[in-house]
Amino acid sequence: MKLPYSIFPRRLFLNGLLGGGLAALGAAFIGPLLKFVIPPTREPDQVSLPLADFADMAAGTVRNFAWGNKPGFLKRTGAGDYVAFVGVCTHLDCNVAFLPGEKRFYCACHQGWYDEDGINIAGPPPAPLRRLAVGAEGDQLIVKKAA
Ligand code: FES
Repeated sequence: MKLPYSIFPRRLFLNGLLGGGLAALGAAFIGPLLKFVIPPTREPDQVSLPLADFADMAAGTVRNFAWGNKPGFLKRTGAGDYVAFVGVCTHLDCNVAFLPGEKRFYCACHQGWYDEDGINIAGPPPAPLRRLAVGAEGDQLIVKKAA
């Protein structure tokens, strides 16, 4: 049975379909673009790490951990303590990497170098890596912002 007139005109339907598709495409493009331009700052006040995951570290070794959405590094000292750094370069906030063979931290963005204690030693970084406070509670290592 054919209706004498359309309840939902074809043109309106196609315009809605096209407009909805374009809106979805725009949202899919603009969302990630906004996240890139204005990255979320999700730095925690502290993180808890299972001590068992780090208890077997030899003196002078460094392991990664997640400091919110940034890399963190935990180093075992010769005295058996732990020190922690935020793995973000003090030049322009690139992530740094620890090179175990060289026992240094490296920022690939502009060839910045930090020694194994996080002290800036070469390249453009103007300051040492930011230190975090490390303590223990039961079977957890508590890493938090240094006072
Ligand atoms: S951001 Fe690390 S050296 Fe420039």
